[in-house]
Amino acid sequence: MSINLHNRNFLKLMDYTADEIRYLVDLSAELKDKKKKGIAHDELKGKNIALIFEKTSTRTRCSFEVAAHDLGMHVTYLDPSGSQIGRKESIADTARVLGRMFDGIEYRGYGQEIVEDLAKYAGVPVWNGLTNEFHPTQMIADMLTVKEKFGRLSDLKFVYMGDARYNMGNSLMITCAKLGIDFVACTDSKYFPDEKLVSYAKEEAVKSGGSVTLTSDVSEGTKDADVIYTDVWVSMGEPEEAWKERIDALLPYQVNSKVFEKTKKDAIFMHCLPAYHDLGTEVGRGVHEKYGLSELEVTNEVFEGEHSVVFDEAENRMHSIKAIMYATLK
Ligand code: CP
Ligand code: NVA
Repeated sequence: MSINLHNRNFLKLMDYTADEIRYLVDLSAELKDKKKKGIAHDELKGKNIALIFEKTSTRTRCSFEVAAHDLGMHVTYLDPSGSQIGRKESIADTARVLGRMFDGIEYRGYGQEIVEDLAKYAGVPVWNGLTNEFHPTQMIADMLTVKEKFGRLSDLKFVYMGDARYNMGNSLMITCAKLGIDFVACTDSKYFPDEKLVSYAKEEAVKSGGSVTLTSDVSEGTKDADVIYTDVWVSMGEPEEAWKERIDALLPYQVNSKVFEKTKKDAIFMHCLPAYHDLGTEVGRGVHEKYGLSELEVTNEVFEGEHSVVFDEAENRMHSIKAIMYATLK
């Protein structure tokens, strides 16, 4: 089947079919191979893109910049304080201005409706670099990583532990459901994804041959898992006070070595990063001072251990963001 994503936005995985997702994963692998072999792929020479970041970033920003340069494009970066967006100029007006200057726009920020609005008015492809609800570019990197490790994107048990009702839990549930992967949200029921989203994912899973399970039982949830995934318990933009309630509810769902006693032997550990696995961060030290914990969503042993693929996953952000831009702009 021939797939053409030219001029499409990339806002959430609900807008994409399983074949389109698989196409982007395979294109990422192709572009990764070219980069490793030193084969030039600056096929988007002369194009310009804008990166809007209303929240901070290391991986996503660097991935967009390096990928754009490899493709021959120029980049303008607008930091959280460096533009009028939302404060002195509406999203609709900003979109119409930037759409006249740039060939594509990345947006990282708060509500999903903001990036949807931007896309509605920009007239050029808009890529969601993370909202409160979704993190779609991360999905292509994650699926590329899974495919590299297992050689397939089906017949896998994929377990997400932690805050499953935020951008990462939501996005992984939808992506796995579309691809025919068995997705499990293993967490306190307060942190299960939104019911409507769960119904959508379950319908997709029926079509794909996958499944969606919500459970608070760690032993059952992680049994025979192929992938154990977690993310920070308090996301960007959430208040500091959230830590107490999250620690109380989510500590039983910390990814530690006991979890891997239940999984398959060759199970992998994934995390979108950044991670709080030691006292190497200001936030980590603050939480330690207040609550006495030196490891949060994942222990240092697992993070640094044999199951962990987190740095392959981080590298794949660049190759997959390149694929998303290439497919939508070429
Ligand atoms: N995983 C991820 O999006 O990382 P950044 O916040 O550093 O971009
Ligand atoms: N849930 C995290 C993901 C970071 C990549 C956040 O929104 O901060």
